[in-house]
Amino acid sequence: MNVLLAGGAGYIGTHTCVELIEAGHTVVIADNYSNSCPEAVKRVEEITGATIPLYEADVCDREAVEKIFSENKIDAVIHFAGLKAVGESVAKPLLYYRNNIDSTLTLLETMEKFGVNNFIFSSSATVYGTPKEVPLVETMPTGTPTNPYGWTKLMMEQILSDTAHARPEMSIVILRYFNPIGAHKSGRIGEDPNGIPNNLMPFITQVAAGRLPKLGVFGDDYPTHDGTGVRDYIHVVDLAKGHVKAIDYAGEHKGVEIVNLGTGTGYSVLDIVKAFEKVNHITIPYEIKPRRAGDIAECFANAEKAARVLGWKAEKNLEDMCYDSWNWQSHNVNGYK
Ligand code: NAD
Ligand code: UD1
Repeated sequence: MNVLLAGGAGYIGTHTCVELIEAGHTVVIADNYSNSCPEAVKRVEEITGATIPLYEADVCDREAVEKIFSENKIDAVIHFAGLKAVGESVAKPLLYYRNNIDSTLTLLETMEKFGVNNFIFSSSATVYGTPKEVPLVETMPTGTPTNPYGWTKLMMEQILSDTAHARPEMSIVILRYFNPIGAHKSGRIGEDPNGIPNNLMPFITQVAAGRLPKLGVFGDDYPTHDGTGVRDYIHVVDLAKGHVKAIDYAGEHKGVEIVNLGTGTGYSVLDIVKAFEKVNHITIPYEIKPRRAGDIAECFANAEKAARVLGWKAEKNLEDMCYDSWNWQSHNVNGYK
């Protein structure tokens, strides 16, 4: 298929691009570089040997999106183009609602106009809210998000279900990501957050690189095996392969499917620190800090539906994730800059 990756220059988009090309698909990327840069796409071209049609475009801009659809025969769209910083979404809710929801509506309307029916959406485990029990199964009720970012994901899931219902010719796969970390084995592409990272792994790699003095561990009094928060970390290359499976699935089915992309295993903050230190032979200085507002104790997936419906299962382990995260950061101390 020829797949439009909206937000394809970002962390998950670039990795998905590599896997799609390696699986024999062709891609077109649209990105406004609000959280990325064209260099990332150049690196994907270098890894794959492919030439990628690249549009600098805001996918909320209908004219720009229609231009892409009229210049390329698009068979499917993967929508990564979202703003994702939880704290920023609390400070700038309208920016988040405008960008995340408008981009989705514009893409869906343009797809309808051009008769394109396959849509894959980047959702998040955040839609489960505070879990009553783990592992999280797709059939469990969604929760109450604690921030506007989470609300945009939940609202977009609703928009997509309504759209699939109204347009039975459509195939929509909503992927609920757990915690993607790691990088492509080449070390040429990886996560490159703006400013001080909010997420755990980029914070650890920046401490390892000497860009930050020490890690703050947010709470050691959760009801978990060592008191620190437990999450389902998934290698970004496994996650990217999940998108290839979702594209294949969408080509053969109609309707809407919601699928967790996680490993099914939870690791604590200190499990991650210890694994990172062991694999990379680096000490990560850390101190225990108070709990972070909005954090939950434990969050991990039941990954059975992905195996059953998509024929997908995560293959990489925690050591691979820690090794590849550091391989990327150590070769790109300042990211793509
Ligand atoms: P990212 O910021 O690296 O990638 C998003 C890309 O979209 C960036 O390149 C950005 O420039 C682009 N973009 C944003 N708004 C745009 C717009 N209006 N028009 C064109 N381009 C636009 O983030 P990521 O980690 O690759 O995440 C991709 C998607 O997955 C996001 O929707 C995010 O909310 C979702 N997600 C990410 C995580 C995670 O931990 N990384 C977890 C759950 C869900
Ligand atoms: C966070 C977001 C979530 C979003 C996801 C992906 C919050 C509350 N949740 O998930 O909505 O979908 O990122 O972008 O922001 N930790 C530390 N020190 C740090 C950073 C993190 O101890 O410097 C701990 C956290 O408390 C948590 C774990 O590490 O227990 C993972 O944190 P993080 O990587 O931010 O992911 P989530 O909180 O799961």
